[in-house]
Amino acid sequence: PPVDIFDYIVFGATGDLTMRKLLPALYYRYRDGQIPDEARIIGTARSPLSRADFQGRAEKALHNFVKPADLDPDTARRFLDLVHYVSLNGAEADSTWPALKSLLAEAPADRIRVYYLATAPGLYGQICENLSNQGLVTEQSRVVLEKPIGTDLQSANAINDGVGRHFPENHIFRIDHYLGKETVQNLIALRFANPVFERLWSSDAIEYVQITAAETVGVEGRGPYYDKSGALRDMIQNHLLQVLCLVAMDPPGSLEADSLRNEKLKVLHALRPITPDDVATYTVRGQYTCGKEGDKTLAGYLEDLGEDATSSTETFVAIRAEVHSWRWGAVPFYLRSGKRMAEKCSEIVIQFKAAPWSIFATKPPANRLVIRIQPDEGVTLSVSTKDPTPTDSLALRQADIDIAFEKAFGTRYPDSYERLLLDVVRGDPVLFIRRDEVEAAWRWADPILQGWAEDKVKLEPYPAGSWGPEAARALLARSGHQWHEDMA
Ligand code: BG6
Repeated sequence: PPVDIFDYIVFGATGDLTMRKLLPALYYRYRDGQIPDEARIIGTARSPLSRADFQGRAEKALHNFVKPADLDPDTARRFLDLVHYVSLNGAEADSTWPALKSLLAEAPADRIRVYYLATAPGLYGQICENLSNQGLVTEQSRVVLEKPIGTDLQSANAINDGVGRHFPENHIFRIDHYLGKETVQNLIALRFANPVFERLWSSDAIEYVQITAAETVGVEGRGPYYDKSGALRDMIQNHLLQVLCLVAMDPPGSLEADSLRNEKLKVLHALRPITPDDVATYTVRGQYTCGKEGDKTLAGYLEDLGEDATSSTETFVAIRAEVHSWRWGAVPFYLRSGKRMAEKCSEIVIQFKAAPWSIFATKPPANRLVIRIQPDEGVTLSVSTKDPTPTDSLALRQADIDIAFEKAFGTRYPDSYERLLLDVVRGDPVLFIRRDEVEAAWRWADPILQGWAEDKVKLEPYPAGSWGPEAARALLARSGHQWHEDMA
C-alpha cells in the first residue's frame, strides 16, 4: 500500500548519493505504487539550478542507475513530476531560505516532512539549527543522517548534540544501508524462525565467525573524503559492526525497534576492548599498491589519490573481535573489509566445530554456514555425505545445501535504500541506528585508531586485485583458522 503523502527534502541533492542511490530507490517505490502522486521530492544544494535542470539530472540518474528493463518512460515522466529543486546553502542562516519555506508552505502543515542530510556531517547540526530557526521543524518532521556520524566519539557526540537540540531522538533516523540489505535482515529470520540454527548459535558449536565486505573498486573520485576516513571508519565502525550485532545478539523480546536495538547495544558493550597496545595482536591495516586484474594494470592508492600524494590511510582492515558473553566466550569474530580486493563479496561465514571423534577413514571437515549478503544473496550449508562411488568402505564426499534467494523466490532483490527511505516516512526506526549504538561503536573503534595513529602496527601494502596483505592470513593462522577463500 502507498505510504502517506510526504515531502522529502534532500540536502546535498547534486551529490553522488542522491543520483546513484536515493532517486533510483524512490523511482522503484513509485513504480510499485508505494509513493502517492501528491508526494514531492525537493532537492536542495548550493548550485543555482532551475527545477528543469535538476529534473534533467534526475532523469539521467534514472537512466544510469535503474535497470533498463525496469525503466518505463511514462512512469519515469510521472516520477520526475514529483521532483523539485531549491538552490540553498543549508549551513547559512538566512538569505536563501525563503524559497524552500514558501515551497513547503504550499502543502498542509501536517504533511510528513523528511529532511535527508546527505552533506558533510560537520554541517548536520548547523542545518538542523537553521531548519528550526526558520520554523520548518513541524510535529511531522523527521531527519535522516547519513554516515559517517563523526570521525570519533567526540565528534559524533557533537553532531548528535547539535541535531538532538532540534529533533527528538525518535525523529532522528541514522541510516546504515547495510541494515536495508535483504540478506542482513534475513539473519533475523534465519536465526529466530529456525530453531535448528539458534540451538547451535554459541561457543558450544561455533569455532569462529567471519564477516567480510570486500570491494573490487578503488577510491574512485572519493579520495578527499576517503583519505580522511579510511576503511575502519568507512566500513567497520558502522556496517560490519551492525552485521556483527545481528549475528551475535540474543533473541529480542519482539521485533519492536527498541527491543532489537537494546540487544544490539548489549553486543557492542560486550566487545572486548582493543587498546592501542593490542592493535599489533588484533588488527591488520593495509593499503593497496598497483596490481593486476587479468591483463589490466590497476593503480595503487597513492596514484588514485593524485600526483605526489602521500598517505598512511588504510584501505584494508582485518580485526579479530571478540564478544565477551556467556553465549560467545572467546569465539573470534573476524571482521575484514577492503577496497581493490580480488572479488566483490559481502558475506558471513559461520564455521562450526569439527566432530569430536571420527568413525570414518578420513575425518569429516566441520560444517560451515555461509550467508551471502551480496552478490547472489543466499545461504549455503556445507555437509558431509556418503560418496556414491562404489567402494568397499563408507567414504565421504562434501556437498552443499544451497538456497539462492533470487532464484528460489523468483523475485528482484531491492536495493537497500528502497526499504529504508520509506521506513522513514512510515516512522519506523527499527532498521536505523540509535544514538547509544553510534557511541558504543566509536568507543570500541577509537583506541584502535589511536594505536594506528601511534604506528603501533605497520601499514601493510597489498597488490590491488588481491585478498589483502599476508598479515591478514597470519591473523587467523595463529589460531589454526582460515579465510573463506583459502578453505578447501
Ligand atoms: C559506503 C562506503 O557506506 O558503503 C563506501 O562509504 C562503500 O566506501 C559502500 O563502497 C559499500 O556499499 P555496498 O552496498 O556496495 O556494499
